[in-house]
Amino acid sequence: MKIAVLREQIDGERRVAATPETVRKFVALGATVALEAGAGDGASIADAAYAEAGAEIGDRAGTLAGAALILGVQGPDPQSLGGSAPGAWIVAGLNPFGERARVDVYAAAGFEALAMELMPRITRAQSMDILSSQSNLAGYKAVLDAAAEYGRAFPMMMTAAGTVSAAKVFVMGVGVAGLQAIATARRLGAQVSATDVRSATREQIQSLGAKPIFVENVAGIEGEGSGGYAGEMSPEYQAAQAELVSAHIAKQDIVITTALIPGRPAPRLISAAQIATMKPGSVIVDLAVEQGGNVEGAVAGEVATVHGVKIVGHRNVPSRLAADASALFSRNLYNFLNAFWDKEAGKPVFPDDDEIVQGVRLTQGGKVVNARLLS
Ligand code: NAI
Repeated sequence: MKIAVLREQIDGERRVAATPETVRKFVALGATVALEAGAGDGASIADAAYAEAGAEIGDRAGTLAGAALILGVQGPDPQSLGGSAPGAWIVAGLNPFGERARVDVYAAAGFEALAMELMPRITRAQSMDILSSQSNLAGYKAVLDAAAEYGRAFPMMMTAAGTVSAAKVFVMGVGVAGLQAIATARRLGAQVSATDVRSATREQIQSLGAKPIFVENVAGIEGEGSGGYAGEMSPEYQAAQAELVSAHIAKQDIVITTALIPGRPAPRLISAAQIATMKPGSVIVDLAVEQGGNVEGAVAGEVATVHGVKIVGHRNVPSRLAADASALFSRNLYNFLNAFWDKEAGKPVFPDDDEIVQGVRLTQGGKVVNARLLS
């Protein structure tokens, strides 16, 4: 069976969906791997390294010719997939809620699209979870981006010329990205506090040496929340949270926001009025900016300045660490495909009654079949 690894076409996407390591592993499974020339450039992986691992390097048409499995980081334009085998699988981050119309086009064209970001949060699927692997890197990079924009140091320093005080960092949303942001800010010597709506995160915040800041008078989400995810909060909760944030944020130097709700716009957590209470020179990084933003005034792809406060809204933060992000993403794809690989058939077999398959499968036999898209 032929696997095609495409060069990403979206502007600013530096990641690649396979590395020489995963190419070798696919070849060991008996697959043929074709790679579009230059696919690894953004992640600093030369074509020669892929060729050495056993990939055939060619142009897009040659790479796709007869391919039964197409790997991507982001969803490829269906019009650009000519020459692939009828009923080919597309395995990538397909942004199915944001690019709903494109899912219909995949179905109509007969592709079997599998959206890796819909991987269920079950133990068996942890090694296949692109949201976790990429969010972890984004949380780390958000802190470095904040440090780069901040005109002061993070750690306390006692010098002959006097003392530099530690930066105060507040992390809002303590999922995978938030936990890594807390850990990174702590390593840099900051004083860290954090908040979330899911009660299970309180202990996680404490275990990383940070201070939990929680709404106390209105119930949030018990435990981990359904599937580890939050939902939209009641107006009472939102009001209590706004009051809590107003009291805390004026004393912070750095705020990192990571709050997301699957399939919904990101919750608004910081208003322009709250930003106005922060000290000039403070920095906010909004990791949710592409999902609508947690911060009023955040602009995707820009560093905005509001009341002297910098609001960092970089797009596609994992791509800013393209080499590591690609290595982890590629392993996620390999782990998924390997788990369903039928050695005798020489290709993956995706059983209809498997929880993972039901989670990620978007289209089958010309139709959109994913329950979350149809509900
Ligand atoms: P996410 O990216 O969907 O959201 C980020 C964080 O924002 C979450 O912690 C969420 O509770 C929080 N949030 C949402 N609305 C908020 C609001 N109004 N105010 C404050 N915070 C708000 O979540 P992520 O990072 O993808 O994962 C969350 C959890 O899921 C993880 O901490 C983990 O426990 C679990 N998980 C389990 C996996 C598995 O078992 N395979 C894999 C990945 C995550």
